[in-house]
Amino acid sequence: MRNFTSVNDISDLKKALDEAFEIKADRYKYCELGKNKTLMMVFFNSSLRTRLSTQKAALNLGMNVIVLDINQGAWKLETERGVIMDGDKPEHILEAIPVMGSYCDVIGVRSFARFENKDDDYNEVILNQFIKYSGRPVFSMEAATRHPLQSFADLITIEEHKTKPRPKVVLTWAPHPKALPQAVPNSFAEWMNAADYDFVITHPKGYELDPAFVGNARVEYDQMKAFEGADFVYAKNWAAYIGENYGKVLSTDRDWTVSERQMAVTNNAYFMHCLPVRRNMIVTDDVIESERSLVIPEAANREISATVVLKRILEGLE
Ligand code: CP
Repeated sequence: MRNFTSVNDISDLKKALDEAFEIKADRYKYCELGKNKTLMMVFFNSSLRTRLSTQKAALNLGMNVIVLDINQGAWKLETERGVIMDGDKPEHILEAIPVMGSYCDVIGVRSFARFENKDDDYNEVILNQFIKYSGRPVFSMEAATRHPLQSFADLITIEEHKTKPRPKVVLTWAPHPKALPQAVPNSFAEWMNAADYDFVITHPKGYELDPAFVGNARVEYDQMKAFEGADFVYAKNWAAYIGENYGKVLSTDRDWTVSERQMAVTNNAYFMHCLPVRRNMIVTDDVIESERSLVIPEAANREISATVVLKRILEGLE
Protein backbone atom coordinates (compact mmCIF):
# COMPACT_ATOMS: atom_id res chain seq x y z
CA MET A 1 0.00 0.00 0.00
CA ARG A 2 1.33 3.44 -0.93
CA ASN A 3 -1.14 5.88 0.66
CA PHE A 4 -4.02 5.36 3.08
CA THR A 5 -6.80 7.92 2.92
CA SER A 6 -10.01 5.84 2.75
CA VAL A 7 -11.50 2.35 2.86
CA ASN A 8 -10.72 2.09 -0.86
CA ASP A 9 -7.02 1.72 -0.01
CA ILE A 10 -7.84 -1.51 1.88
CA SER A 11 -8.75 -3.82 -0.95
CA ASP A 12 -10.04 -6.79 1.05
CA LEU A 13 -11.72 -5.96 4.39
CA LYS A 14 -11.74 -9.59 5.55
CA LYS A 15 -7.98 -9.84 4.99
CA ALA A 16 -7.42 -6.53 6.79
CA LEU A 17 -9.48 -7.75 9.75
CA ASP A 18 -7.52 -11.03 9.84
CA GLU A 19 -4.33 -8.97 9.95
CA ALA A 20 -5.77 -6.80 12.72
CA PHE A 21 -6.57 -9.84 14.87
CA GLU A 22 -3.15 -11.34 14.14
CA ILE A 23 -1.50 -8.11 15.32
CA LYS A 24 -3.82 -7.86 18.32
CA ALA A 25 -2.65 -11.34 19.39
CA ASP A 26 1.01 -10.31 19.04
CA ARG A 27 1.47 -6.60 18.41
CA TYR A 28 5.27 -6.92 18.19
CA LYS A 29 5.22 -9.69 15.55
CA TYR A 30 6.55 -7.28 12.90
CA CYS A 31 8.91 -5.33 15.19
CA GLU A 32 11.80 -5.56 12.67
CA LEU A 33 9.81 -4.22 9.71
CA GLY A 34 10.30 -0.55 10.56
CA LYS A 35 13.96 -0.70 11.62
CA ASN A 36 15.78 2.49 10.50
CA LYS A 37 12.54 3.88 9.08
CA THR A 38 11.12 7.16 10.35
CA LEU A 39 7.48 8.16 10.66
CA MET A 40 6.70 11.87 10.69
CA MET A 41 3.33 12.78 12.19
CA VAL A 42 2.13 16.26 11.18
CA PHE A 43 -0.73 17.80 13.14
CA PHE A 44 -2.62 20.85 11.94
CA ASN A 45 -5.22 20.06 14.65
CA SER A 46 -5.25 18.76 18.21
CA SER A 47 -5.29 15.07 19.11
CA LEU A 48 -5.04 12.65 22.02
CA ARG A 49 -5.91 9.19 20.63
CA THR A 50 -4.51 9.56 17.13
CA ARG A 51 -1.20 10.94 18.35
CA LEU A 52 -0.66 8.28 21.00
CA SER A 53 -2.05 5.25 19.15
CA THR A 54 -0.22 5.99 15.90
CA GLN A 55 3.05 6.62 17.72
CA LYS A 56 2.58 3.35 19.62
CA ALA A 57 1.83 1.54 16.35
CA ALA A 58 5.06 2.88 14.83
CA LEU A 59 7.01 1.76 17.92
CA ASN A 60 5.39 -1.71 17.65
CA LEU A 61 6.92 -1.93 14.17
CA GLY A 62 10.35 -0.70 15.28
CA MET A 63 10.08 2.73 13.62
CA ASN A 64 11.49 6.05 14.77
CA VAL A 65 8.89 8.80 15.22
CA ILE A 66 9.00 12.59 14.75
CA VAL A 67 5.94 14.67 15.69
CA LEU A 68 5.32 18.17 14.34
CA ASP A 69 2.53 20.37 15.70
CA ILE A 70 2.15 23.00 13.02
CA ASN A 71 0.45 25.41 15.44
CA GLN A 72 3.03 25.05 18.21
CA GLY A 73 6.49 26.23 17.32
CA ALA A 74 6.50 25.71 13.53
CA TRP A 75 6.35 28.60 11.08
CA LYS A 76 2.80 29.54 10.17
CA LEU A 77 2.14 28.02 6.75
CA GLU A 78 0.59 29.66 3.72
CA THR A 79 -1.47 27.04 1.89
CA GLU A 80 -2.78 29.01 -1.12
CA ARG A 81 -0.67 29.20 -4.29
CA GLY A 82 -0.32 32.65 -5.86
CA VAL A 83 -0.70 34.58 -2.61
CA ILE A 84 1.63 37.59 -2.06
CA MET A 85 3.14 36.50 1.23
CA ASP A 86 3.23 39.85 3.01
CA GLY A 87 1.07 38.69 5.94
CA ASP A 88 1.69 36.62 9.08
CA LYS A 89 2.67 33.38 7.29
CA PRO A 90 6.43 33.23 6.61
CA GLU A 91 6.59 29.77 4.98
CA HIS A 92 4.71 28.21 2.09
CA ILE A 93 3.39 24.67 2.40
CA LEU A 94 4.87 23.89 -1.04
CA GLU A 95 8.41 24.22 0.39
CA ALA A 96 7.54 22.87 3.84
CA ILE A 97 6.09 19.57 2.56
CA PRO A 98 9.14 18.37 0.54
CA VAL A 99 11.41 19.48 3.39
CA MET A 100 9.40 17.32 5.79
CA GLY A 101 9.55 14.47 3.29
CA SER A 102 13.34 14.68 3.23
CA TYR A 103 13.52 13.78 6.94
CA CYS A 104 11.32 10.68 6.98
CA ASP A 105 10.08 7.59 5.16
CA VAL A 106 6.35 7.82 5.89
CA ILE A 107 4.12 10.82 6.71
CA GLY A 108 0.86 10.91 8.69
CA VAL A 109 -1.22 14.08 8.36
CA ARG A 110 -4.09 15.46 10.45
CA SER A 111 -5.84 18.36 8.75
CA PHE A 112 -9.52 18.97 9.49
CA ALA A 113 -12.10 20.70 7.32
CA ARG A 114 -11.78 24.44 7.77
CA PHE A 115 -15.36 25.28 6.72
CA GLU A 116 -14.00 28.24 4.71
CA ASN A 117 -14.43 26.69 1.28
CA LYS A 118 -16.44 23.47 0.78
CA ASP A 119 -14.63 22.59 -2.44
CA ASP A 120 -11.22 22.90 -0.76
CA ASP A 121 -12.41 20.71 2.11
CA TYR A 122 -14.06 18.07 -0.08
CA ASN A 123 -11.12 18.05 -2.52
CA GLU A 124 -8.80 17.37 0.44
CA VAL A 125 -6.45 20.15 -0.67
CA ILE A 126 -3.99 19.84 2.26
CA LEU A 127 -3.80 16.03 2.34
CA ASN A 128 -3.41 15.85 -1.44
CA GLN A 129 -0.59 18.39 -1.39
CA PHE A 130 1.29 16.08 0.99
CA ILE A 131 0.65 13.15 -1.36
CA LYS A 132 1.80 15.18 -4.37
CA TYR A 133 4.84 17.01 -2.97
CA SER A 134 6.30 14.96 -0.08
CA GLY A 135 7.73 12.11 -2.19
CA ARG A 136 6.66 9.77 0.65
CA PRO A 137 3.74 7.46 1.38
CA VAL A 138 1.08 9.49 3.20
CA PHE A 139 -1.71 8.34 5.48
CA SER A 140 -4.62 10.26 6.93
CA MET A 141 -4.76 10.83 10.66
CA GLU A 142 -8.16 12.51 10.01
CA ALA A 143 -8.51 14.76 7.01
CA ALA A 144 -11.29 17.09 5.91
CA THR A 145 -13.70 14.40 4.74
CA ARG A 146 -12.62 11.12 6.32
CA HIS A 147 -11.06 9.55 9.43
CA PRO A 148 -10.15 6.08 8.13
CA LEU A 149 -7.92 4.96 11.03
CA GLN A 150 -10.87 5.60 13.36
CA SER A 151 -13.34 3.80 11.10
CA PHE A 152 -11.04 0.80 10.77
CA ALA A 153 -10.79 0.63 14.59
CA ASP A 154 -14.60 0.94 14.78
CA LEU A 155 -14.97 -1.96 12.35
CA ILE A 156 -12.55 -4.12 14.37
CA THR A 157 -14.55 -3.31 17.53
CA ILE A 158 -17.88 -4.23 15.94
CA GLU A 159 -16.43 -7.49 14.57
CA GLU A 160 -15.20 -8.35 18.08
CA HIS A 161 -18.61 -7.76 19.66
CA LYS A 162 -21.21 -8.72 17.05
CA THR A 163 -23.32 -11.84 17.65
CA LYS A 164 -24.79 -12.12 14.16
CA PRO A 165 -23.18 -11.88 10.70
CA ARG A 166 -25.04 -8.72 9.70
CA PRO A 167 -25.75 -6.61 12.82
CA LYS A 168 -27.95 -3.52 12.73
CA VAL A 169 -25.66 -0.49 13.13
CA VAL A 170 -27.16 2.96 13.66
CA LEU A 171 -25.17 6.16 13.15
CA THR A 172 -26.95 8.92 15.02
CA TRP A 173 -26.37 12.67 14.93
CA ALA A 174 -26.23 14.17 18.44
CA PRO A 175 -26.03 17.80 19.58
CA HIS A 176 -22.83 19.76 20.13
CA PRO A 177 -22.24 23.48 20.77
CA LYS A 178 -19.65 23.90 18.01
CA ALA A 179 -19.49 23.16 14.29
CA LEU A 180 -17.71 19.83 13.79
CA PRO A 181 -16.54 18.35 10.45
CA GLN A 182 -18.30 15.44 8.74
CA ALA A 183 -15.10 13.37 8.55
CA VAL A 184 -16.01 10.81 11.21
CA PRO A 185 -19.61 10.17 10.08
CA ASN A 186 -18.61 10.18 6.38
CA SER A 187 -15.86 7.69 7.02
CA PHE A 188 -17.93 5.52 9.37
CA ALA A 189 -20.65 5.35 6.71
CA GLU A 190 -18.13 4.40 4.05
CA TRP A 191 -16.71 1.55 6.15
CA MET A 192 -20.13 0.29 7.33
CA ASN A 193 -21.32 0.17 3.73
CA ALA A 194 -18.16 -1.70 2.73
CA ALA A 195 -18.75 -4.18 5.57
CA ASP A 196 -22.33 -4.67 4.31
CA TYR A 197 -23.96 -4.38 7.73
CA ASP A 198 -27.64 -3.45 8.15
CA PHE A 199 -26.78 0.25 8.34
CA VAL A 200 -29.09 3.13 9.28
CA ILE A 201 -28.27 6.84 9.60
CA THR A 202 -30.49 9.12 11.68
CA HIS A 203 -30.30 12.90 12.02
CA PRO A 204 -32.57 15.95 12.06
CA LYS A 205 -33.59 17.32 8.66
CA GLY A 206 -30.88 19.60 7.28
CA TYR A 207 -28.02 17.38 8.46
CA GLU A 208 -27.94 15.16 5.36
CA LEU A 209 -24.43 13.90 4.60
CA ASP A 210 -22.82 13.83 1.16
CA PRO A 211 -24.73 11.06 -0.74
CA ALA A 212 -21.38 9.66 -1.88
CA PHE A 213 -20.77 8.61 1.73
CA VAL A 214 -24.35 7.67 2.63
CA GLY A 215 -24.26 5.02 -0.10
CA ASN A 216 -26.69 2.18 0.59
CA ALA A 217 -27.53 3.28 4.14
CA ARG A 218 -31.17 3.83 5.08
CA VAL A 219 -31.79 7.38 6.32
CA GLU A 220 -34.44 7.66 9.06
CA TYR A 221 -35.32 11.09 10.46
CA ASP A 222 -37.14 9.64 13.48
CA GLN A 223 -34.35 8.76 15.93
CA MET A 224 -36.50 6.45 18.09
CA LYS A 225 -37.61 4.50 15.02
CA ALA A 226 -34.00 4.24 13.82
CA PHE A 227 -32.88 2.83 17.17
CA GLU A 228 -35.48 0.01 17.20
CA GLY A 229 -33.67 -3.33 17.26
CA ALA A 230 -30.20 -1.77 16.85
CA ASP A 231 -27.21 -3.90 17.84
CA PHE A 232 -24.73 -1.00 17.77
CA VAL A 233 -25.38 2.73 18.21
CA TYR A 234 -22.65 5.07 16.98
CA ALA A 235 -23.17 8.67 18.10
CA LYS A 236 -21.47 11.68 16.53
CA ASN A 237 -22.14 15.31 15.94
CA TRP A 238 -21.54 16.93 12.59
CA ALA A 239 -22.24 20.34 11.12
CA ALA A 240 -24.52 20.77 8.12
CA TYR A 241 -23.15 19.63 4.76
CA ILE A 242 -25.78 20.73 2.27
CA GLY A 243 -25.96 24.02 0.38
CA GLU A 244 -25.34 27.37 2.00
CA ASN A 245 -25.58 25.81 5.44
CA TYR A 246 -22.24 24.04 4.93
CA GLY A 247 -20.33 24.13 8.23
CA LYS A 248 -23.21 25.57 10.24
CA VAL A 249 -24.82 24.41 13.50
CA LEU A 250 -28.55 24.15 12.75
CA SER A 251 -29.69 22.54 16.00
CA THR A 252 -28.54 21.80 19.53
CA ASP A 253 -31.72 19.89 20.37
CA ARG A 254 -30.91 17.76 23.39
CA ASP A 255 -33.78 15.40 22.60
CA TRP A 256 -31.17 13.85 20.29
CA THR A 257 -28.70 13.26 23.15
CA VAL A 258 -28.30 9.49 23.42
CA SER A 259 -29.86 8.38 26.71
CA GLU A 260 -31.49 5.32 28.29
CA ARG A 261 -34.74 6.48 26.64
CA GLN A 262 -33.44 5.68 23.13
CA MET A 263 -31.23 2.75 24.17
CA ALA A 264 -34.31 1.02 25.69
CA VAL A 265 -35.77 0.31 22.23
CA THR A 266 -32.55 -1.25 20.88
CA ASN A 267 -31.50 -4.89 20.93
CA ASN A 268 -29.47 -4.16 24.11
CA ALA A 269 -27.16 -2.24 21.77
CA TYR A 270 -23.55 -1.41 22.36
CA PHE A 271 -22.80 2.32 22.48
CA MET A 272 -19.92 3.69 20.42
CA HIS A 273 -18.27 7.10 19.97
CA CYS A 274 -14.83 7.99 18.59
CA LEU A 275 -14.01 10.35 21.52
CA PRO A 276 -13.46 13.03 22.68
CA VAL A 277 -17.11 13.23 23.70
CA ARG A 278 -19.10 15.96 25.42
CA ARG A 279 -21.09 14.17 28.10
CA ASN A 280 -24.76 15.07 28.42
CA MET A 281 -24.65 16.75 25.01
CA ILE A 282 -23.81 13.71 22.84
CA VAL A 283 -24.52 10.98 25.41
CA THR A 284 -25.65 10.78 29.02
CA ASP A 285 -23.30 9.72 31.81
CA ASP A 286 -25.40 6.57 32.35
CA VAL A 287 -25.05 5.34 28.78
CA ILE A 288 -21.35 6.06 28.33
CA GLU A 289 -20.58 4.46 31.71
CA SER A 290 -22.80 1.42 31.10
CA GLU A 291 -21.51 -2.11 30.51
CA ARG A 292 -22.61 -1.77 26.88
CA SER A 293 -20.33 1.20 26.21
CA LEU A 294 -17.45 0.36 23.87
CA VAL A 295 -15.74 3.75 23.82
CA ILE A 296 -12.57 2.53 25.56
CA PRO A 297 -12.07 -0.73 23.56
CA GLU A 298 -12.77 1.30 20.43
CA ALA A 299 -10.02 3.79 21.31
CA ALA A 300 -7.67 0.92 22.21
CA ASN A 301 -8.24 -0.58 18.77
CA ARG A 302 -6.79 2.58 17.23
CA GLU A 303 -3.36 1.11 18.00
CA ILE A 304 -4.32 -2.01 16.05
CA SER A 305 -5.74 -0.22 13.00
CA ALA A 306 -2.67 2.04 12.85
CA THR A 307 -0.30 -0.93 13.17
CA VAL A 308 -1.99 -2.72 10.24
CA VAL A 309 -1.87 0.41 8.07
CA LEU A 310 1.75 1.25 8.88
CA LYS A 311 2.76 -2.39 8.37
CA ARG A 312 1.20 -2.37 4.91
CA ILE A 313 2.87 0.92 4.02
CA LEU A 314 6.26 -0.37 5.22
CA GLU A 315 5.80 -3.55 3.18
CA GLY A 316 5.20 -1.34 0.12
CA LEU A 317 8.37 0.75 0.54
CA GLU A 318 10.92 0.27 -2.20
N1 CP B 1 -10.90 9.82 17.89
C1 CP B 1 -9.83 10.60 17.66
O1 CP B 1 -9.34 10.74 16.53
O2 CP B 1 -9.33 11.18 18.79
P1 CP B 1 -8.27 12.36 18.81
O3 CP B 1 -8.91 13.56 18.13
O4 CP B 1 -7.99 12.62 20.26
O5 CP B 1 -7.04 11.94 18.06
